[in-house]
Amino acid sequence: MKVILDGRAAHYRTVWFEAAANQVRMIDQRLLPHEFAVLSTRTFHETAAAIRDMAVRGAGAIGAAAAYGLAQGACAFRGRDLGRFSGHVEKVIQTLKAARPTAVDPVNAMRRVRAAMETGETVEEQQRLALAAAEDFANEDVRHCEAIGRQGARLIRAGMNVLTHCNAGWLAFVDVGSATAPLYAAHAAGKRFHVYCDETRPRCQGATLTAWELAQQGISHEVIADNAAGHLMQRGRIDLVIVGSDRTLGRTGEVANKIGTYTKAVLARRHRIPFYVAIPLSTLDWNLTSGSEIPIEERDPAEVLGAWGVPAAWAGATRGKSPQRGRAGLKTGRAVYVRVANPGSPAYNPGFDVTPPDLITGLITPAGIFKPHELWKHRRRLGFEG
Ligand code: MRU
Repeated sequence: MKVILDGRAAHYRTVWFEAAANQVRMIDQRLLPHEFAVLSTRTFHETAAAIRDMAVRGAGAIGAAAAYGLAQGACAFRGRDLGRFSGHVEKVIQTLKAARPTAVDPVNAMRRVRAAMETGETVEEQQRLALAAAEDFANEDVRHCEAIGRQGARLIRAGMNVLTHCNAGWLAFVDVGSATAPLYAAHAAGKRFHVYCDETRPRCQGATLTAWELAQQGISHEVIADNAAGHLMQRGRIDLVIVGSDRTLGRTGEVANKIGTYTKAVLARRHRIPFYVAIPLSTLDWNLTSGSEIPIEERDPAEVLGAWGVPAAWAGATRGKSPQRGRAGLKTGRAVYVRVANPGSPAYNPGFDVTPPDLITGLITPAGIFKPHELWKHRRRLGFEG
């Protein structure tokens, strides 16, 4: 995706691999939108830490990071003993898998890399196959997101107001994004519309990442407080909701996504507003039979008890003033954490919730738009290999 840095456009993927250095590189999303920096991880342990700490985040992006991390871990192995190599690879997989439990993309990505590796007969051959398979996963992620854009663009009409939650944009994938793909495709086709970005507490991926992306693309948007969506719907100011997903159950059509998604789906149903979920095929889980089995990540209470930001004077973006332009949009600096909640009060911080299929109008996939209950019927087209 195009990023404007120091007034010049540059193309970036969210995450990529430098094979010569055996390093995973990623845009450090913890710093955006106030600073643009690339983080390099030198070991699979560092890659797992970058996933856990959300330097890289979003289902497809952590899928690709895990695939690269597995290749990185495999390539770091020295020796020719296939038995020892296999034990090492298993340790790499478990470390990367444990970094974030809700999204299924890392699991699917690493399963593919491992299956490709197993066709090799020597350690060296398996290392080479791991790299190729990880690159393949990343490239497929981009192709799937582009296809989601083509499938979903028809849902966007000129003049519409669209609500989105969290960040399922290009930063959440290798490029393009899932929920934002139809928006980018419609915008590129000349349609003009407005996007409301749920701020998405506690980490504010809507206010920081989605708003930054849309600004970079020149798409009209406003950030709203998470609690404002119901009011806007009641006043007829939202025509369509599109969100992403971290895990969608192929057997039931249930959708795990960022906390607060379920609330928006209930509101959308109440106001008869179409509610769509955009997913690449790597987000489908064909194993689980109930949403209650989806592991819901519980994150640090500090995320709820406080917030990250920069002094308003740096951003110059308060009270409707235009933000100062600079590197990557806002010229500011490193964000700091401030405590908001009552000192001493504890917090509970589930990162995701599960939306039942009856609240979902359709799932925008690279292979078409489906009703949630149709996934199983179309499983072969949707990549089920069982
Ligand atoms: O915790 P995050 O930021 O990694 O959460 C992922 C998300 O951004 C959302 O849940 C998103 O809508 C789906 S990821 C494509």
